[in-house]
Parts: sequence; C-alpha cells; structure tokens
Amino acid sequence: MVIEIKNVNYQRKNKKILKNINWSVQSGEHWALLGLNGSGKTTLLNIINGYIWPTTGEVTVLGKQFGTYPLGELRKIIGWVSTSMQDKLYGDEYTENIVLSGLFASPRLYEDPEQADVDRALTLMEEFGLSSFIHRRYATLSQGEKQKILILRALMANPKLLILDEPCTGLDVFAREQLLETVEQLSKQEDAPTLIYVTHHIEEILPLFKNTLMIRRGEIFKSGATNKLLTEEGLTEFFEAPLPERAMFLRQFVSQR
Ligand SMILES: Nc1ncnc2c1ncn2[C@@H]1O[C@H](COP(=O)(O)OP(=O)(O)O)[C@@H](O)[C@H]1O
Ligand SMILES: [Mg+2]
Repeated sequence: MVIEIKNVNYQRKNKKILKNINWSVQSGEHWALLGLNGSGKTTLLNIINGYIWPTTGEVTVLGKQFGTYPLGELRKIIGWVSTSMQDKLYGDEYTENIVLSGLFASPRLYEDPEQADVDRALTLMEEFGLSSFIHRRYATLSQGEKQKILILRALMANPKLLILDEPCTGLDVFAREQLLETVEQLSKQEDAPTLIYVTHHIEEILPLFKNTLMIRRGEIFKSGATNKLLTEEGLTEFFEAPLPERAMFLRQFVSQR
C-alpha cells in the first residue's frame, strides 16, 4: 500500500476543508486527482506529505503511519513537483545543480556532491532529452523546460511516490504536450515511482492514470476507474453543469475514452 487515508477530516477555525476522506493507493497504480479550484486538492497533498496534520483520521504513507515515524525521512521518499516551487529555486544556478539539489532537498546546491551523483544527474538529463541545457542557468529556461528540470530534481532522491501538483499550469499547448510526454516516459522507467497527477484540466489525464479521485468541496465525489468516471454524464454530474459546447479538448477526451 502506498497511501492509506482513513476517515480524514481537516478543519481550520470553523471551516471544514476536508470531510471524511477515505482513499487507498496500491503500489503499481497511478492516480489522477481531479477537482476544481479550492476543492481541497493541495490540502490533501499537504496531509500526505506531512506538512499539515489532519484534525481527525489516520494517514499511512509507504507503510509509515503518521505520528510514529520521522517526517523528514518520509519526505525524502516522496517527490513533489509544482509550479510554485520555481520561485523557491535560484535562477542563477546551473540546471544540473538544480537537479542535484533534489538529493539534499535544498533550493540550490550547497554541498559538494559525489561524482556518482553528478553522473546520475547528467544521465537523467540525457535520458529525458535535456542534455542541451547542461551548464545553462536555470532562469534562462522556458517555463516548460523548468518544469521538466523540476521532475528530474524530484527523481534524484529516488522517490517511491511522486506528486505532480498542476505541473502544466502556465504552459502553452506544445510545452504541455512535451511535459506530458516526460510524465509518460517517467512512468515507463524501471522502478518508476507511484504517480499522483493533480489537475482541474481533464484533458491532461494521460491513459496511464487508470484511476481517478474526484474531489468536490472537500469531499470525495467518486473514486475508481478513470474510464468509468470521466464520461460526459459523469463529468456533468461532478461539475453540476453540462460540459461547455466550446470545450473541444474536453469533448474529444471523453469521446475517446
Ligand atoms: N491555511 C488555511 N486556512 C484557511 N483556509 C484554507 C487554508 N488552506 C486552504 N484553505 C481553504 O481550503 C480550501 C481548499 O484549498 P486547496 O486545498 O488549496 O484547494 P485546491 O488545491 O483544490 O485548489 C480553499 O477554500 C482554501 O481557501
Ligand atoms: Mg491546489
């Protein structure tokens, strides 16, 4: 079991942000987490990562029950990629050093890495088609290129679980497709981590995400097989509105499933 969440509630002052969440992720599964803005996705991820503590309920991640295991150790085996992370990194750092900094969970490279780790960072960049960015400063990359570097940075620590929180935010349609290709390539690697892909853009959910957790107003609306849930009727019920006539990507996506 990679994630096991039982009866989790999370409340801030009088506001119930998460209500009675139950969710299990087994190893070998990749999940999409779908919900509109403000539905509680990032809060749930913060609980999984141990950044916040549920008001009630039990959380077990990678076999470690929260409250009984050092969080620092757990965070090392959980990778996290989100656009907001980009502001925390140093633009004047070389891209390969940003990748390497993932080993130390630091925003830039403060320590002298071992040669084996340097080699691994360079190999990762080659494997994922980013070798032309070696020795380029991070700030000079496009948004999509930066996001790919962030994925490799997360991979440096060999995570067992990799959370991609709205990784395509701000990307144009081409950069988005390239980033999705990177995600696909990553899923095919030997020893690939369990992937959780968080989005409110349904058309970003690649076929490899066989399961989806749908979250609405802090509650689980439905969870299970993506191709059963993400139909035109299923989405209309979830959004409480018919799919917009002009949402072509979306319509194409549901008709292809
Ligand atoms: N620290 C906090 N204090 C009060 N409200 C919060 C806090 N964090 C999140 N919320 C609220 O909880 C809801 C869910 O937020 P969030 O998990 O970030 O949603 P999502 O990631 O799905 O967009 C929002 O209404 C947000 O304003
Ligand atoms: Mg969010």
